[in-house]
Amino acid sequence: MEKRPTHIAVIMDGNGRWASERSLPRSAGHVQGVKALKKLVAAALEYEIKCVTVFAFSAENWKRPQEEIDGIMSLIADFNRRELKNLLENDIRVTFCGSRNGLPDKVIKSINKLEAQTVVCKTMRLVIAFNYSGQSDVLNAANRAVEGGKPVTQAEFEGLLYTSGIPAPDLIVRTGGEKRLSNFLLYQAAYAELVFLDKYWPDFNKKTLERVLAEYSARQRRFGAVGTEENNA
Ligand code: FPP
Repeated sequence: MEKRPTHIAVIMDGNGRWASERSLPRSAGHVQGVKALKKLVAAALEYEIKCVTVFAFSAENWKRPQEEIDGIMSLIADFNRRELKNLLENDIRVTFCGSRNGLPDKVIKSINKLEAQTVVCKTMRLVIAFNYSGQSDVLNAANRAVEGGKPVTQAEFEGLLYTSGIPAPDLIVRTGGEKRLSNFLLYQAAYAELVFLDKYWPDFNKKTLERVLAEYSARQRRFGAVGTEENNA
């Protein structure tokens, strides 16, 4: 039986280049990127992946032109409103991780609403990293631990991260050709398998996921030990 990841995390990179190559504005790449995200979710459901995390907006993305930022804010608010029916039908719970500071009110409201409306869904978890920084995640958790006034265990520390209650990703995929994590899930990535794809995010589809799953299945995960994965899990 093929080994499947429980949790796939994705850095959806290459929207801007996809658009530029077609002489389109960068925003058109992000619009296409949302379509690719929907393809990923549908395919992941078919393959019974329990959790998908996507990096939709990093804490560093505020450095982009205001027009592009506004476009992404609108896309997320639209996604949260328009996808509700489909998410409920497919029993997908959506949660966001990252800071709400600085987000427009309409985005915060749409996030709170979608999280509340899908809270009972169990088949899949979609985590949208939005205004997210892995370094801030660890720093905030450390500060909260210090506020507690005594040393914390690893499990307690993990409970202070944005990803509390979500298993660490088994697999992190980055599209767009760059080979780096760019401040994504830095703590949680400790034992993740990494797959870097040259294709741009808008070109991601079910076939791409199948290739990525085949690659994952061929990897031997040892978690720092020797011998077979079964012995080390
Ligand atoms: C990286 O490509 C992509 C982003 C920074 C934004 C990703 C956002 C979306 C797919 C839309 C978000 C909406 C929802 C509903 C999750 P890039 O722009 O850095 O591409 P480039 O490296 O080619 O410039």
